[in-house]
Amino acid sequence: MPRANTADTYGSISKAFHWITALLILTLFPLGVIAENLPYDTNEQLARKAWLFSLHKTLGVTVFFLALTRLLWTATQIRPAPLHPARKAETFLAEMVHVLLYLSLVFVPLSGWLHHAATEGFAPIWWPFGQSLPFVPKSEALAHLFSGWHWVLTKLLLLAFALHIAGALKHVVIDKDDTLRRMAIGKAPRQPAPPRPAHSRAPALAGISAYAAALLAASVMAWPTAAPQAAQAPEAPQAAPMALPANGWQVETGTLALTVTQFGKPVSGQFGAWTAEIEFDETVDDGIAGRVEVEVMIDSLTLGGVTDQAKGPDFFDAATHPRALYSADILALGDGQFDAVGTLTLRGTEAPLDLPFTLRIEDGTARMEATATTDRRDFGIGQNMPDEQNLAFGVEIKVDLVARKP
Ligand code: HEM
Ligand code: HEM
Repeated sequence: MPRANTADTYGSISKAFHWITALLILTLFPLGVIAENLPYDTNEQLARKAWLFSLHKTLGVTVFFLALTRLLWTATQIRPAPLHPARKAETFLAEMVHVLLYLSLVFVPLSGWLHHAATEGFAPIWWPFGQSLPFVPKSEALAHLFSGWHWVLTKLLLLAFALHIAGALKHVVIDKDDTLRRMAIGKAPRQPAPPRPAHSRAPALAGISAYAAALLAASVMAWPTAAPQAAQAPEAPQAAPMALPANGWQVETGTLALTVTQFGKPVSGQFGAWTAEIEFDETVDDGIAGRVEVEVMIDSLTLGGVTDQAKGPDFFDAATHPRALYSADILALGDGQFDAVGTLTLRGTEAPLDLPFTLRIEDGTARMEATATTDRRDFGIGQNMPDEQNLAFGVEIKVDLVARKP
């Protein structure tokens, strides 16, 4: 069997590329749908879902590189001539579908990969590269867009594949010709192909146009929901009315951030809406210098690609417990070091939380920075995930505030 294609048949290398890719695509498709629809309510379910997604992504990235190699090989090859060149519409459709399939082999895995790279946490790719991609920032809006691309492009691949199979079946069942035979491993065509008609670029152009239209439609579909998310920040209430020293300080900027560790990787996010009231005497540098009360709106949380999961019943349970409260005494330790010693009420459960912080006041601007680690189990968060490998117990809290005297 020749390695290279001839005018009558595909060579062994093209055949190997074709069937290995076909096998991978036929595995990846159900794998994607199954992984997507698996529940993740318990530790085992989440671990299984993540494992299947990692397998899906790892095989998918393999298809991407295989496709690039295959395209390079195809570019050096002649293509076996159509067996029925007089059937113009059929030949046009077959070639257009081939172009759609080639485009799918590159852009379906690429869209999935872009989605993965723009998302934080969950189901790593097992290759030692590619968790992030150059020029792709971690962004919910971008992840949403790429996820829309992946969804639409997988449906287009399905459509092209259905037409491809229908064509192959027609050649076997109705035409009873050699079309499938010349792609079959170890088989040679029984008769030579008729002379190749003049080559037309029209099927390729039609395939590329259809693909571009689908990509555009996917972007339009995914964009309107992505854009408001990106624009959400200004709407989120500021870390508002807050008196740093009681004599009229105003908070200019503030973040209340948290980092969880999922599958060994940090996933960071923040609460957009919270208020804080502080009574504070800056002249005290040893002992109780004031009190702080913070109220956090749980629904304002964004946490990488797992925001909805985090706000759900097993974790923060925003629907039943929409607010968290922190109240503490502020202890001055000297040298701009303080400790807020108090309790955090989260998910209806109260537990002690110490928040050491630094406060620097310079030229009428006060900057407060605090970092603390708390244990999610103290508040009954993620009880169905007792395995630290999936979700670590420690959750890091970071508070950063800048206040100014008007
Ligand atoms: C040729 C390769 C690939 C095929 C055929 C494929 C197919 C699919 C399918 C059919 C789904 C289910 C979509 C649905 O809900 O209907 C899916 C979902 C998904 N795939 Fe792929 N995929 C491929 C490559 C990749 C790669 C390389 C990655 C990441 C590196 C990836 C990441 C994902 C993710 C994260 C989902 C979940 C859906 C979402 O949130 O967007 N896929 N894929
Ligand atoms: C599993 C069922 C499949 C069957 C029975 C099948 C059958 C065939 C046959 C008979 C040909 C030769 C057509 C001709 O000579 O005009 C062909 C070509 C082709 N197939 Fe498939 N195929 C299958 C799956 C796939 C899949 C999953 C893909 C990719 C996503 C794919 C992509 C292609 C491409 C791109 C060509 C054109 C090759 C070229 O001329 O460069 N096929 N297929």
